[in-house]
Amino acid sequence: MLEILNDQDYEKFRKVIYDQCGITFSATNRSILDSRIKDLLRKKNIATPGEYLDIVLKNSEEMKLMLDSVTTNLTRFFRNQPHFDAFTNYVIPAVIEQKKKTGDRMIRIWSAGCSTGEEPYTIAMIMKEICPPEFNFQITASDISLKSIMTAKQGFYNEARVDGVPEDYLSKYFTKVEGGYQIKEDIKKTITFDYHNLKNDSGARNLDVVFCRNVLIYFDEPAQLAVINHFYDSMGPYSFLYIGHSESLFGMKTNFEFIKTEWACFYGKNVNK
Ligand SMILES: C[S@@+](CC[C@H](N)C(=O)[O-])C[C@H]1O[C@@H](n2cnc3c(N)ncnc32)[C@H](O)[C@@H]1O
Repeated sequence: MLEILNDQDYEKFRKVIYDQCGITFSATNRSILDSRIKDLLRKKNIATPGEYLDIVLKNSEEMKLMLDSVTTNLTRFFRNQPHFDAFTNYVIPAVIEQKKKTGDRMIRIWSAGCSTGEEPYTIAMIMKEICPPEFNFQITASDISLKSIMTAKQGFYNEARVDGVPEDYLSKYFTKVEGGYQIKEDIKKTITFDYHNLKNDSGARNLDVVFCRNVLIYFDEPAQLAVINHFYDSMGPYSFLYIGHSESLFGMKTNFEFIKTEWACFYGKNVNK
């Protein structure tokens, strides 16, 4: 197959993408970058990668579009059910127990790298089921992909995409509409969707649970560590972090504790103290 990016172009795009958002392209996934840039050039009717890179470097909106196009947004409702079993049976009860010792009645959750919304909506539906009436919860969901955030905000999913949503949740929290399902307003309003690049500190503080699943896998170790340190700062004195089940903080210099439960493994901040 014809390679669209010569070695020099490839190196330049690779570096810009890494510097901007931590996503790391290597020899093994170079073809993905090639094909995404090729698509962009075709859509925008631009002749050469060099010309396009100049535009991207001068225009922050175009930079956002380019970064969006190199992201992988694969997700689904109730992805990795054991994570949510642990959330229901261990994490939220533990957070509530801790909060009962203080006057704080708000449970703060962040879905970082939320893609098209399936993860934060899953969390919201579960919280609707398990959150005691004397507590409230708020979910922030963010991504670097503007296209994905737009889909997430709409909350419309076709038949194939609601696969995995239990029947009772489907009838309780979605409205059947032509071509698929629309998430109901009372679920939607528990989530604030935001553009956020994980390379930067979000400024959030005192979060009780952070989900950042299947995102770190696209970063190299220094970029992962930077993101993890931002999470640590954004989390409350007793809090939990989920990463993807194929991701690990093993060997990384962090203050997070590894927590193994009968349902799933995840990380904690000051949980074992
Ligand atoms: C594979 S999806 C994972 C979605 C969901 N967390 C899940 O596990 O199903 C990865 C998401 O991370 C987002 N992402 C990648 N780099 C990012 C960055 N630097 N800042 C914010 N989001 C990023 C991508 O846009 C994509 O939507």
